[in-house]
Amino acid sequence: MGRMPLSSHRRLIPAVAVSLILLTYFLWFDSYTRSRVVLSVPENDNDTPRPRPPPRILLVSALFPLPHSKHSHEEYREWLAKFIGLIACDIYFYTTPDLAPVLETLHASSPAADTHTLTINTTFASSFDIPPLKPHREKYVQMHAWDRERERHNPELYAVWNAKPWFLEQALISLRQSKHQEYDYAFWNDAGSFRNTHAFRHWPDPGRVEQVWDEAYAIAREGERDGVRMVMGKEDLVFFPLYSMPGREQMGWRREMGPVDFDFSEGSFFGSSPRSISWYTKTFYDMHDHYISTPPLPLAPSPLPKHPHAPQNQNQNQNQNATTPPPFHFVGKDQTLINALIFRFPHRFFTVLAPPRAGFLPSSLSLSSPSPSSPSPHPAVDTLSYTLQRHLTRLRLTIVHLLNRSARMRATFGAAMNTCGDDWFYYQFWLAGKEERRGMVGVWEGMSFFGPWGRKGEEGYCVGSVVGVEGALRGLMGGRWVERVRAGGG
Ligand SMILES: *[C@@H]1O[C@H](CO)[C@@H](O)[C@H](O)[C@H]1NC(C)=O
Ligand SMILES: *[C@@H]1O[C@H](CO)[C@@H](O)[C@H](O)[C@H]1NC(C)=O
Ligand SMILES: *[C@@H]1O[C@H](CO)[C@@H](O)[C@H](O)[C@H]1NC(C)=O
Repeated sequence: MGRMPLSSHRRLIPAVAVSLILLTYFLWFDSYTRSRVVLSVPENDNDTPRPRPPPRILLVSALFPLPHSKHSHEEYREWLAKFIGLIACDIYFYTTPDLAPVLETLHASSPAADTHTLTINTTFASSFDIPPLKPHREKYVQMHAWDRERERHNPELYAVWNAKPWFLEQALISLRQSKHQEYDYAFWNDAGSFRNTHAFRHWPDPGRVEQVWDEAYAIAREGERDGVRMVMGKEDLVFFPLYSMPGREQMGWRREMGPVDFDFSEGSFFGSSPRSISWYTKTFYDMHDHYISTPPLPLAPSPLPKHPHAPQNQNQNQNQNATTPPPFHFVGKDQTLINALIFRFPHRFFTVLAPPRAGFLPSSLSLSSPSPSSPSPHPAVDTLSYTLQRHLTRLRLTIVHLLNRSARMRATFGAAMNTCGDDWFYYQFWLAGKEERRGMVGVWEGMSFFGPWGRKGEEGYCVGSVVGVEGALRGLMGGRWVERVRAGGG
């Protein structure tokens, strides 16, 4: 899934910016130290015997150059060098026959060449050739007309995004059938997600993966509804990094309204056990097929305030046919389908937010979900303190973004504000082993003007806790909202 830059303003008075930096830092300290949601995850390195062998992990990815892509093989090689060339994990990769040698060369020179496998599958010429998407090519071209980000997207890109669950499940099936190779966890990982300098090698760290799953399962068990088991086992849980949380804007969402269009889930990385990957894949394409074959509700104009960072609606100028709604829902952005899916099945998901974004979580969220039998009378989104907290978080993120947009400010302060790396890719740090997390803090410190200031302990403020999505949504939107949306009702 592509990044969505925040809306921004061109001109910035540097003097104001400098004082804002200090303000930001102050606010940062304040919120990190007070925030109850950023809890430290205990490390299991105190020689506790580990009866279980480390879980077997597979990373799955794909790269199909888009028809009008001007990138050369050399550029792809550079991007992939920090992924295929460095990461020691079994990898399954779907690509075109002419890119396969590039990948093979990178793997051969990687430190993991002898210990981990790279499987390349060149059966498909493009993402449109996979069975779940093949029948929809025409509709994908059609719906491009009503994509609000039409300039930046194209039908092939929709296919690349919507192919991920199928590729992930198929990689497991292929390896099981051809090599009798089984895995405990598999993750989708975008081919271009390791473009920046990083310290990750044995990633994701198997012990760490097991640890966050254990914790997520404990959270799921604590939140069980009146003795009703929502999640049967640890392997029923799916990990999805989130970028923000819903707010008042999503209060009125119903299934018939279609995919949920805001920056909630990230599609760059996600995964689970083989069993849950099958569930997720089936559920994803069921939802995709449902929405692509049903017309959207004729919507009354929303009285709710627009997401301030949402890109401008270009259709307003170009499409005056306000009275002719599109013939079916827009399903081109996997992110929006995933959002709807997480709304419907929150108990199956757990997540982490980058620490600077933890302010989007309700402050009452603890490691256990709020009592399910008493739907909270005042969902956090209705309280003044949460509204303030959310605005403050947004303000902080906007300041960082504005400062970061100016090349001069960047040159002066480096990644000053970027204390825990890019928020979008925070999960990379979070799923790394202890040594590699320490190494990564070192990399960030080297880039950061204010490096040592904003840190506390080895990992500084970069420790994010496991968040159960069900508990977070209950705290934010209220138990009634969660139950209504789960039931699909209006
Ligand atoms: C490539 O993937 C497809 C879909 O899973 C599978 O049918 C095919 O056998 C795979 N090809 C190879 C060479 O493994
Ligand atoms: C607007 O409506 C007209 C006729 O109703 C149709 O021919 C045209 O394609 C529509 N334009 C868009 C952008 O949907
Ligand atoms: C700041 O900008 C640089 C270069 O454009 C980018 O790589 C980095 O991710 C940005 N950082 C944040 C926190 O937005």
